[in-house]
Amino acid sequence: KRAVVFISGGGSNMVALARAAQTPGYPVEIVGVIADKADAGGLEKAASMGIPTFAFQRGDFDSKAAHERAILTCLEGLTPDLLCLAGYMRLLSADFIRHYEGRILNIHPSLLPLFPGLHTHQRAIDAGMTEAGCTVHVVTEGMDEGPVLAQARVPVLPGDTAETLAARVLVEEHKLYPATLRAFAEDLV
Ligand code: GRF
Repeated sequence: KRAVVFISGGGSNMVALARAAQTPGYPVEIVGVIADKADAGGLEKAASMGIPTFAFQRGDFDSKAAHERAILTCLEGLTPDLLCLAGYMRLLSADFIRHYEGRILNIHPSLLPLFPGLHTHQRAIDAGMTEAGCTVHVVTEGMDEGPVLAQARVPVLPGDTAETLAARVLVEEHKLYPATLRAFAEDLV
């Protein structure tokens, strides 16, 4: 299966997926990395791994629709079976999602349905949670709402800050996403 990974920043989840995809027998090939920011750190990391990269700076387009149209045109050339959002900080429109219905995955740093949206770790701490984690789900029109495919849990420790909790969750993200993508791709077979 061919997958394109979407990033907005450092792309550590993209790197985890790309590394997994390089292992023999892994059922997915990462055929491109798309960023909505030309300075996304993950673009260089992807390029150094030999993966084609494409930046679509939102500000270069006069509308969300134009921005998405440019990305969809790029995807037509890459012919992906799957899209993997990985630290992609932009909502996809229902129209965009319809082009890849049921074939867009996302990783979110909380145990959905708890804490959709941003600042998930601080919110978990503020809520007095003793457990946190991450979720891989299928992307639907609503934000962080689609069917959950897999989750990983970590303890929230006394004295945790958003940063210490984020670091603990990120370790799990880098394991959960490659494992879940593999399982999802195999089911598609
Ligand atoms: C991670 O916490 C991920 O769960 C969220 O964005 C953060 C950064 O991801 N979606 P990455 O390092 O850019 O992959």
